Amino acid sequence: MVPLLEVHGVSKVYGNTRVLNQVSLKVEPGEILAVLGHNGAGKSTLIKLISGVELPNEGSVLIQGKRVIMTSPLEAHKLGIGCVYQELHVIDGLTVAQNLFLGHEKTKKGLLDMQAMRHESRTLLESFGLSDLDPDSLGKELSHPQKQMIEILAAINMQIKVLLLDEPTSSLTLGEVDRLLDLMRLLAKKGLGIIFITHKLKEALAVSDHVTVLRNGSVVLADHVNNVHEEQLVEYIAGKRLVENTESNVSAHSDDSSEELLQVSHLSSGKALDASFTLQSGQVLGIYGLVGAGRTDILKALFGLEQITGGTITMSGQPYVPKTPTQALAAGLYYLTEDRKVDGFIPGLSVALNMVLPSLAAFEQNGMIKFRQIAAKVETFMRSLNIQVDRETPMANLSGGTQQKVLFARALLVPGIKILMLDEPTKGIDIGSKTEIHSLIRQLGREGYGVIVVSSEVEEIMAVSDRILVMASGRMVENYFLRGQTEEADLLRAALGGKSRVQSA
Ligand SMILES: Nc1ncnc2c1ncn2[C@@H]1O[C@H](COP(=O)(O)OP(=O)(O)OP(=O)(O)O)[C@@H](O)[C@H]1O
Ligand SMILES: [Mg+2]
Repeated sequence: MVPLLEVHGVSKVYGNTRVLNQVSLKVEPGEILAVLGHNGAGKSTLIKLISGVELPNEGSVLIQGKRVIMTSPLEAHKLGIGCVYQELHVIDGLTVAQNLFLGHEKTKKGLLDMQAMRHESRTLLESFGLSDLDPDSLGKELSHPQKQMIEILAAINMQIKVLLLDEPTSSLTLGEVDRLLDLMRLLAKKGLGIIFITHKLKEALAVSDHVTVLRNGSVVLADHVNNVHEEQLVEYIAGKRLVENTESNVSAHSDDSSEELLQVSHLSSGKALDASFTLQSGQVLGIYGLVGAGRTDILKALFGLEQITGGTITMSGQPYVPKTPTQALAAGLYYLTEDRKVDGFIPGLSVALNMVLPSLAAFEQNGMIKFRQIAAKVETFMRSLNIQVDRETPMANLSGGTQQKVLFARALLVPGIKILMLDEPTKGIDIGSKTEIHSLIRQLGREGYGVIVVSSEVEEIMAVSDRILVMASGRMVENYFLRGQTEEADLLRAALGGKSRVQSA
């Protein structure tokens, strides 16, 4: 069989850095290939070379045995390559049907044929088990997982042969991940070739036929999935950087000086209903639940981003009514959102400046910005978060996971912060660095911060939290789960709304 796609010895050089080095791979019809590797390993760059976004400096790309040179994504599309990038591009103001036909709209007598597009969209959605999606819904009405599905279907709607997926599951939980993996299997069965990038090894092992591991731009492993196992993959991905997770079950902060930072009583906001909890200084509070359970609404309400429709909050004993993020920051609360785009870094500015942006005032004296102090501070954080780029690199040139780490550092630099709210803090972070971030979160607890962590990953919530709240359908499951006394199954059951073995605080 002629492979659908072959990549022969491609390399990519940016300035003095060789980001990809002689990388080769192939994808047969009906095959799913997982591409794994640490943050900055070159995965997204490889995808860009195959989808016409960038040209390789050496090597070649073959489609069905024929060498091609693609100088734009449109050209790649025409050759049968479809790509869903790390950041989604569904257009908010267009309908589902319009998004599905973007760039190849159906027309009748020179006008958009909305009826035909609507009709074909419905058929397409139905054939992939997504009949709950309305072709007339606007992009902005869709949830993140729905947008992801729409992007994939839009690519498929272009009659592609090879589908490239760059971390498609990083914002999804249980149900949605399964649904996406099922969709991938279905597409493969129909003869498509798929390249799947992920940091989640279990997913890669569950869905793919072959795996390729990149480390520092080179292929270090390429094998059939039956010949590899998880621990071995971890070693190949992390190389020497792997750190042991030595965190024990001791509470992050156990002395008596701990202060009640937050008291939330019967809070309602967005999807969250009647939520009550407290947060002490030195404590890491995990909030677990499925996507859509209302976890993010609570964080947004606390940060003045979402209207509070009921209940009260006190902060260090004082009434706290957050109306804007500026107020929340001034009160000592920081919110790291799960969406890098929303969090707003400035792509053209350096890592250093992006890191200190919200805290610039702290580095100013008599109208002068103390750049040397900024540099020193930034270097410290770059070391502790293992950010291996020059601090003057523009943010736009960093890999997705590295951008996430910079935003993490940014939160820690803002003066006067007592409470950190972290929404999916390791989204897009590779398994080596993930353990480091978990240790860092525990460390923040020991330093006296009150930390609230929202995560869809049970392992993560269990690794970082002193206490865990579970939310299901907007409501909190009665009580707290405690560190060291909870099993994964308890949390899952509670999140699914079932009765659970609840520990009392
Ligand atoms: N335009 C660019 N100019 C300079 N360097 C770049 C550019 N784009 C990417 N890089 C660098 O290339 C390396 C590989 O980045 P890439 O985005 O491919 O990593 P990745 O494997 O996708 O990582 P992640 O898991 O974090 O998404 C990184 O060190 C990144 O900083
Ligand atoms: Mg990437």
